[in-house]
Amino acid sequence: MESFRLNDEFYLSEEAPSGGIDRQQFYINKLKLYIEEYKAKSGRNLTYSIETFGCQMNFHDSEKLEGILENIGYKKADSNTADLIIFNTCTIRENANLKLYGHLGTLKKRRLTSPDMMIGICGCMMQEPTVIENIKTKYKYVDLVFGTFNFHKVAEIIFKRISTGKQVIEIEKEAVENVENLPSKRKYEFKSGLNIMYGCNNFCTYCIVPYVRGRERSRTPEDILEEARRLAADGVKEIMLLGQNVNSYGTNFLAESDIIKNNPDYSFPELLDDICKIPEFERVRFMTSHPKDLSDKLIDVISKNKNVCRSIHLPVQSGSNEILRRMNRKYTRESYIELLNKLKDRIPDVSITTDIIVGFPGETDADFEDTLSLVEMAGYDQAFTFIYSKRTGTPAAGYDDQIDDDVIKTRFDRLLDAVNRTTKERVSRFKDLTLPVLVEEEDKDMEGYLTGKTEYSTTVHFKGDKSLIGEIVPVKLSVHKGFYYLGELTEEV
Ligand code: 5AD
Ligand code: SF4
Repeated sequence: MESFRLNDEFYLSEEAPSGGIDRQQFYINKLKLYIEEYKAKSGRNLTYSIETFGCQMNFHDSEKLEGILENIGYKKADSNTADLIIFNTCTIRENANLKLYGHLGTLKKRRLTSPDMMIGICGCMMQEPTVIENIKTKYKYVDLVFGTFNFHKVAEIIFKRISTGKQVIEIEKEAVENVENLPSKRKYEFKSGLNIMYGCNNFCTYCIVPYVRGRERSRTPEDILEEARRLAADGVKEIMLLGQNVNSYGTNFLAESDIIKNNPDYSFPELLDDICKIPEFERVRFMTSHPKDLSDKLIDVISKNKNVCRSIHLPVQSGSNEILRRMNRKYTRESYIELLNKLKDRIPDVSITTDIIVGFPGETDADFEDTLSLVEMAGYDQAFTFIYSKRTGTPAAGYDDQIDDDVIKTRFDRLLDAVNRTTKERVSRFKDLTLPVLVEEEDKDMEGYLTGKTEYSTTVHFKGDKSLIGEIVPVKLSVHKGFYYLGELTEEV
């Protein structure tokens, strides 16, 4: 079968604007024509699917990709049938990389026998030079390869692929331009992420993020507030402010800002306060907070604004001072516990969630016991536990005291036991309370049930009609199931 082609004039693009949103809009418009012609000739729409791995930031990036693809005219489809399949990758742990190669292998045959099909891979993994070498030699059938700094250029990249017929690889080592406000498509109408900053300067010694997402860049308050107001007008009730470390918001702005000129001390607490003033936002969340610099001012803003959800993600990583030092976390076990106590005092019932790494190089039995004892005393609502993964290029990968797999496995199982037991105990404080629940979707397992979240991020399943999706309704949390509840829709309390 011949691959679909338009007349040659379509591929001449000298008139493309030199950069920014205009250039991307130019390519979006070009591709609109392509899609329309395709439909006229074949009688069907070209379709896409995006598979996303990793964190909230990646899911938010995928919404931006979806927005551009839908604007072009691609229709969403299942990955088994889609013409354009994009994988937005994560590289924080090695098994995330292996997963991608598995998916590509499965698609190879279909790609090689379908001339109009395209495979795209993008995001964090693409920022690793060894991955790109691998793709160039072993995965030549992948059509589009782009990094974390090229998301906004997806239309241009697709255009380049169809006009040259060759694999397109677009990777930058750092942010060359920042293009916001391209079309975006939210998964949920009533809630949205909102990037306030990009990148990370912390260089925790195990972590690859600073290398694949670049240095910290903060958007101006004007830019963020404008997007926030647009989202509010568009039906968003719950906003999640996103950054690798929101507490360092404002160290390096992407553009000039009058707000900053008038108030050079403006930082995350002020931004959060301004966001909370937008009346449509019934719920405001943020992630992630680094424990080294969560300020008293921020706690004040949280405690005075009732629409800030009483749920804070505060990754501890380890309970041992020696390991924290070697991780370059810049806080101690004692200062972390002090912060937890302060949060619990100032924000009654606050829910704290965390991330913990087991098996960091040099972790002794005593270090691990320190992590266990911290979990016992912290009273977490949820803890995400990870086995240390050696990431090439990070300082810890070069440490010569890596821990044996079987030692790690035993520690991991013990940690999981402690986490399950202690979070269950902590989450039991909501038993039989009636709390406002934002209804997110139909329950995936139980017919006639809905799934929602309290402001403490506790998941609740309850019977109800799907017309309630997107509403905040009172639900009695009657059956405690560990980290989640079964509940009943009730009258207002
Ligand atoms: N190995 C294991 N876990 C890691 N994380 C980050 N890097 C690694 C790594 N190399 C975990 C941290 C972080 C979370 C998002 O992922 O706990 O908070
Ligand atoms: Fe990674 Fe540390 Fe930055 Fe978080 S703060 S993204 S763990 S380097």
